[in-house]
Amino acid sequence: MGVRKRLMAAIVFQFHRPHGLGGRLAGWEMALRPSNRKRNRWAVGLLGVQPRDCVLEIGFGPGFAIRELARRASDGLVLGLDHSEVMVRQATARNRAAVEQGRVELRLASAVDLDDFSDTFDKVLAVNNFGMWPDPQLRLRELLGAVHPGGRVAIVSQPRSPGATAATTERIGRETAEQLQEAGFINVRREILPLRPPVVCVLAETPEERTQ
Ligand SMILES: C[S@@+](CC[C@H](N)C(=O)[O-])C[C@H]1O[C@@H](n2cnc3c(N)ncnc32)[C@H](O)[C@@H]1O
Repeated sequence: MGVRKRLMAAIVFQFHRPHGLGGRLAGWEMALRPSNRKRNRWAVGLLGVQPRDCVLEIGFGPGFAIRELARRASDGLVLGLDHSEVMVRQATARNRAAVEQGRVELRLASAVDLDDFSDTFDKVLAVNNFGMWPDPQLRLRELLGAVHPGGRVAIVSQPRSPGATAATTERIGRETAEQLQEAGFINVRREILPLRPPVVCVLAETPEERTQ
């Protein structure tokens, strides 16, 4: 692999699992970039978080959405899972007061740990990391079991690969909706935020009655 390709791969990896100084820089970039902030604020608004909700965010990165979620779940709990130590540190610093009050808990953990939770959450958010989960179909089935009947999940994607367009967003949204349906979620619908490229938020609910 040439130097340029290796450099690009290293940069991309910093957004998949930020580490070291490069990871800290990637975290600051994600926290400050206006489109990231807009995307996260919009997604949290669509989730319809209530004051007493127990909310999970997977892949919280620098913790911008965690702050917005905690503001809404004022008498509830926000739990975050991210597999990057650097992101856990940055997000903890960004949400220090709520962490100290016990309203926010940020864990070094992965989407593969979803099986540890059963009927725990009212709402779940994942922004720009669903495409990074190993075996996403299995993860979605585990997620279904982790959410209360009638709970809601929001899976949000803004493609960041070079050359991504509205068509890329459309395809990702359609595929995510199909995967959620296949895993057993109901009332699956898509919302679009017209940034460049557009953001898709796929919303879905867990059925009141479980089939298994
Ligand atoms: C591109 S960043 C997005 C961060 C944040 N959600 C945002 O929109 O600003 C992806 C984040 O997801 C985390 N991540 C990726 N795969 C993960 C997995 N399998 N389990 C937990 N976290 C994961 C990464 O460590 C990183 O913090």
